[in-house]
Amino acid sequence: MSKTPNFFVGKTIFITGAGGGIGRSAALIFAREGANIVVTDIDESAAIATANLVKEKGKEALAITVDVASRASIDNGMKLATNRFGRVNFLFNSAGAAVARSKFLDITDQLLEKTLAINLYGTYYAMQAVLPHMLERGGGVIVNVSSMTAKRGGPGTSVHYAAAKGAVDSMTMGVAREFADRNIRCLSISPGPVNTQFQAASNSPPEFMQRAIADVPMKRAAEADEIAELVLFMCSDACEYMTANTVYVNGGGGFR
Ligand SMILES: NC(=O)c1ccc[n+]([C@@H]2O[C@H](COP(=O)([O-])OP(=O)(O)OC[C@H]3O[C@@H](n4cnc5c(N)ncnc54)[C@H](O)[C@@H]3O)[C@@H](O)[C@H]2O)c1
Repeated sequence: MSKTPNFFVGKTIFITGAGGGIGRSAALIFAREGANIVVTDIDESAAIATANLVKEKGKEALAITVDVASRASIDNGMKLATNRFGRVNFLFNSAGAAVARSKFLDITDQLLEKTLAINLYGTYYAMQAVLPHMLERGGGVIVNVSSMTAKRGGPGTSVHYAAAKGAVDSMTMGVAREFADRNIRCLSISPGPVNTQFQAASNSPPEFMQRAIADVPMKRAAEADEIAELVLFMCSDACEYMTANTVYVNGGGGFR
């Protein structure tokens, strides 16, 4: 996956939303490659459970309770991470949720604000927390999570979430280009449906996932590992010319 053998050994990744789903998969994949894992999640017991899985592989993990919607919480998490490991080489912003599904005219200000807080502000706070540290130590890689929904607009159910993820893509591009000459790369991944607790956490009706899968040419959802392996590649030295863009991982489409 990396060009240099043992590229990830001893390097540190800070992951938000690592208590489950794609974040937990990334924690285990980076641990497999020998990285130190900073496992952060709003759910303390979920973060500890992921950290224990990493430790079972004989790798270093630090579990921290972090609510990405709070700048203070993220700043505290980043401080604990750098105190423990000295350097954060990679940031993976996986925490995210659609919060609730809603037709456009029924979206409340509260729903939009909460959706922006978790998906956009969380990504923004974490990037602002890590970038001064990365710049001081000569570089780093940031991977954000967008969604196919950003391309489709989420009509009928998820315009609030699509707008938040569209903003994540724009911010990813801006950060990537602003810091491109200082050895910082910043990318996003736009998955189609992924088999995680995400739909439950987003209060999706049961038929929602079936409809999403029907729209995918491969006729199945991705497994979390199929997204998380891309995070590893993006962070590796095999991917040094790629920055700013989002990469679609969607079983062949779902652009309807
Ligand atoms: N699963 C999908 O179908 C899908 C599709 C496209 C994009 N995504 C995106 O992928 C990312 C990961 O989602 P997932 O599928 O792993 O979902 P998931 O629900 O399985 O995991 C999300 C994790 O984030 C944590 N979290 C929620 N709010 C948080 C907060 N405020 N602060 C810190 N942690 C918080 C949860 O506790 C959970 O452990 C999200 O950004 C999501 O929007 C998911």
